[in-house]
Amino acid sequence: MRTAALVAGADVTVPPVDSPGSLRLVRSCRQAQEVTVTYANLLQELYPDLAPDVGDLYLLEEHQIAELPGRAPGPELAAVLHAYPDLRAFLVARCPRIEEFLAELTADHGPAEEGGLAACESALVWELADWIVYQRAPELYERRTVVDWDLAAVTEVVDLEGKTLIDAGAGTGRVAFSASSLASHVYAVEPVATLRRYMRDKANRLGIENLFVLDGFLRAIPLPTASADVLVTCQAIGWDLGAELSEIDRVVKSDGFALHLCGAPSAAQTDNPLLGSLMSHGYRQDTYRDGRLVIQRCWKQIPK
Ligand SMILES: C[S@@+](CC[C@H](N)C(=O)[O-])C[C@H]1O[C@@H](n2cnc3c(N)ncnc32)[C@H](O)[C@@H]1O
Repeated sequence: MRTAALVAGADVTVPPVDSPGSLRLVRSCRQAQEVTVTYANLLQELYPDLAPDVGDLYLLEEHQIAELPGRAPGPELAAVLHAYPDLRAFLVARCPRIEEFLAELTADHGPAEEGGLAACESALVWELADWIVYQRAPELYERRTVVDWDLAAVTEVVDLEGKTLIDAGAGTGRVAFSASSLASHVYAVEPVATLRRYMRDKANRLGIENLFVLDGFLRAIPLPTASADVLVTCQAIGWDLGAELSEIDRVVKSDGFALHLCGAPSAAQTDNPLLGSLMSHGYRQDTYRDGRLVIQRCWKQIPK
């Protein structure tokens, strides 16, 4: 189960910078008090009316099911699988490589105790509620997200005018859409079909002709070598970091830029191993404040 550290009452000095919107560089950030909440708690706070249930798990895509071992709380998933054999059959049919994991899990953990199934169901579906929101209500994800990415976080590092930009793990395309007014071509790479459809519909509705929505992963971008000037991720890196960094080096032109906005919902990221790995791969880092969150921005220029 993932946990998120939310900072309460952070004492932050916020000098203004010459950029539009709410982006502010943070020169000093001292955490006054830190509380740890589960990822499920955070999602419940964000989507109080979602009412996710076990039926929503039939919406999961193959790549999401493959991530269950790292995402789902084991005893609760096992209890749900014992209670709903059809769900287990569905998960295996959609993602055969999960079969062994599910077999071991249900051997290690039995059914829910009497009267305990509802609590297991609730814990499980709330832990996975971001996936459920992507599938059921992309517009809700866009509206109730924890961070409002400001394009200035990118344009302070690299001018986008006339450039080709990839937004990998684009979600509902918040960065891709705002970049499309500056860049010549924007490729929004996103593995979840519902989110791709949402972006395509929105681009059609707004008459945006330079934004192209692609099925793919950060570790496998369906674009040629050296085809982008800039690659951006916003809370969308680290599933398979080694492969992702190689793919970034492949797809971005030499002298181009890779930039990652990380950190939300946690403000206490100084010991985040992801950031450590990016630093050791030649990234530079700074920090800015977005509402109650402190966000890490990591960027590097791809060497010639
Ligand atoms: C936290 S959301 C961020 C979405 C968007 N960048 C934003 O900030 O609004 C993470 C996104 O990455 C997508 N994703 C999941 N696995 C991925 C992968 N391996 N490579 C790229 N994107 C992935 C998810 O479907 C989701 O849309």
